[in-house]
Amino acid sequence: MSPAGKNAVPTAKCDAFLGKIALDDDKAVGATWVRLGLDLSAAGVPELATAVYPEYQRRGIGSLMMTELIRMCSGTYSAIILSVRASNPALHFYERFEFTPRGRLENRVGTESIVMSRRLQEPVPR
Ligand SMILES: CC(C)(COP(=O)(O)OP(=O)(O)OC[C@H]1O[C@@H](n2cnc3c(N)ncnc32)[C@H](O)[C@@H]1OP(=O)(O)O)[C@@H](O)C(=O)NCCC(=O)NCCS
Repeated sequence: MSPAGKNAVPTAKCDAFLGKIALDDDKAVGATWVRLGLDLSAAGVPELATAVYPEYQRRGIGSLMMTELIRMCSGTYSAIILSVRASNPALHFYERFEFTPRGRLENRVGTESIVMSRRLQEPVPR
């Protein structure tokens, strides 16, 4: 585990947003979050976004944040959905976390994106 990953801390939590930020000392070097209310999201299925600064990539930071975010979302949401450009190597990153393709769409720059989702543990009934 990288020093930055060890310092990852939760930064936001409310009904419509869950997220993690990875810190290297006080510097934010990556973030992963889910939100309801975006184009792909549906009831109980928030949309995911993630990024790590280029100089911090391929050190396990994205995996650390994703593992923790999936843990945080399990029991609250039934699934997570996302879209990723078909040419983006992040596609393989998502496959490692059991996201599977659900469809394709034309993104805002006119190229193809893959819609992927991952089921979570069923929410605990209230
Ligand atoms: C996707 C992203 C968040 C992964 O974060 P990370 O800290 O680099 O991820 P990890 O180090 O935990 O895991 C890396 C794995 O992701 C995949 N991966 C990530 N970037 C990759 C690249 N440029 N080329 C090939 N595989 C890549 C590989 O499977 C890699 O495993 P490996 O290093 O054993 O080959 C990061 O690469 C990123 O910020 N990319 C740019 C922003 C982006 O595309 N976000 C997704 C938009 S939908």
